[in-house]
Amino acid sequence: MLEIAFAKAVLPKTGVLVVPLAEGAIPAGLAAALDKAFSGGLKRAIEAAEFTGKKGQQAALLAPKAGFKRVLVVGTGKSDAFTSRAAEELGGAIAAALSKEPEVTVLAEALDPTLAAHVGLGARLRAYRFDKYRTTQKEDEKPKLAKFTILSANALKSGAAYAPLAAVADGVEFTRDLVTEPANVLHPVEFAERIQELKKLGLKVEVFDKKDLEKLGFGSLLSVSWGSAHEPRMVVLQWLGASGAVGADGKKNKKPKDPIAFIGKGVTFDTGGISIKPAASMEDMKWDMAGAGTVVGLMAALAGRKAHVDAVGLVGLVENMPSGTALRPGDVVKSYSGQTIEVLNTDAEGRLVLADVLYYAQERFAPKYMIDLATLTGAIIVGLGHEYAGLFSNDDGLSEKLIAAGKLTDEKVWRMPLAPLGESYDKNLKSQIADVQNIGGGRAGGSITAAQFLQRFVNGKPWAHLDIAGMAWAAKDSVTTPKGASAFGVRLLDRLVADNFEG
Ligand code: BES
Ligand code: MN
Ligand code: ZN
Repeated sequence: MLEIAFAKAVLPKTGVLVVPLAEGAIPAGLAAALDKAFSGGLKRAIEAAEFTGKKGQQAALLAPKAGFKRVLVVGTGKSDAFTSRAAEELGGAIAAALSKEPEVTVLAEALDPTLAAHVGLGARLRAYRFDKYRTTQKEDEKPKLAKFTILSANALKSGAAYAPLAAVADGVEFTRDLVTEPANVLHPVEFAERIQELKKLGLKVEVFDKKDLEKLGFGSLLSVSWGSAHEPRMVVLQWLGASGAVGADGKKNKKPKDPIAFIGKGVTFDTGGISIKPAASMEDMKWDMAGAGTVVGLMAALAGRKAHVDAVGLVGLVENMPSGTALRPGDVVKSYSGQTIEVLNTDAEGRLVLADVLYYAQERFAPKYMIDLATLTGAIIVGLGHEYAGLFSNDDGLSEKLIAAGKLTDEKVWRMPLAPLGESYDKNLKSQIADVQNIGGGRAGGSITAAQFLQRFVNGKPWAHLDIAGMAWAAKDSVTTPKGASAFGVRLLDRLVADNFEG
């Protein structure tokens, strides 16, 4: 983990330094002092590199003076557009450019202390690594960056602003670790076990095993796990940050009051089941638990920063495998809601898992809002690519809040159509022999059909569904996400809570 520190704005005498510079700006403050120490070398380098301060632009100086190993000038764009997100992008760009330097110092005394904190968040997010299975990597191939010091006009204030952001980064890293784990290691039982670790943050964690789920009548979720050698699990996490923290003044069993409920699809591997997937890229289906991974990381973030909110997280954990005991196309199962489902395609399994968990969440917690996250359909990637998650909701107010939080965190969502029960899109789910079938007629509008199916288990409660199939895994590096598991949704929903539900 990259360590982020904040220190007084004093010009260092040695090391690797970063000088952020806005468009059209000239070095001032510490940067001016640095230029003087280099006898005008900083300004000359800026000129020689035709550096204008455009966002992302860089100018490098190697050993400009004894003791100074490297100086990197980084453009921050127009100064009035320097938002918290822009600060994160700056941090991420620096962490990427200087990944081979063990220690880096950023001269950020010109930045607002809160923005300086976001530089730290961005650096930490970009420096994430998953190295536990590498045993032969050579020393010179390994990234070295371990300490990232930000010189701030008010180091105390920056440090205080960074503390909650560090909790969010912890949540993101927790999610990324889960999503990256291969499915032979992270099966449902192991997933539930890893969540136990979050009890140390004050979260209440309840695990439902196969017997518990049978007793409850989770016939839909359970049917997905029939073919697997691994038992299913449901895990319920509770954070009572508004109505009284769990364990505070000895009251341990207090119920959350009007909580926000987050529900995650946790298919630890999706072969498609008997409706088996083609071999190409099937390995991607290890991250078919990203919705659940995100819910868990989000709950860790909320608890870690002691958010003033009551929130519950529920994850349905199963493995979808073909075998002699597997669910067959044509089987009819009975969901927890009481509705029977005709399963026409065993690869449309995520919705079968969410059906039971969604219904349970609304019945047990009477949440103010329910938000589910799922790598639900390939069709959402066809529609939106890797820029936006699909948002489906029966609530305009909640949708607007999600869209706004998406813009601020650059975890963007695009609203898609959702029809009321019994209308247009919904009608495709009419089954010949059961209450509902798990796919529509054809491939057209596949992500909408999936959302319509979920809506049948929402019981009319305010709800939003985020289809994150195109966002959970990044094929290439981006400024604050190294290629791989993105943890898309942790920062989005943390921000949604912070801006709307902590009043
Ligand atoms: N997990 C997949 C969706 C998916 C595909 C996620 C690609 C990430 C990348 C889901 O369970 C699935 O298989 N959906 C089917 C639904 C179809 C059978 C109606 C799909 O999208 O093809
Ligand atoms: Mn599937
Ligand atoms: Zn799936």
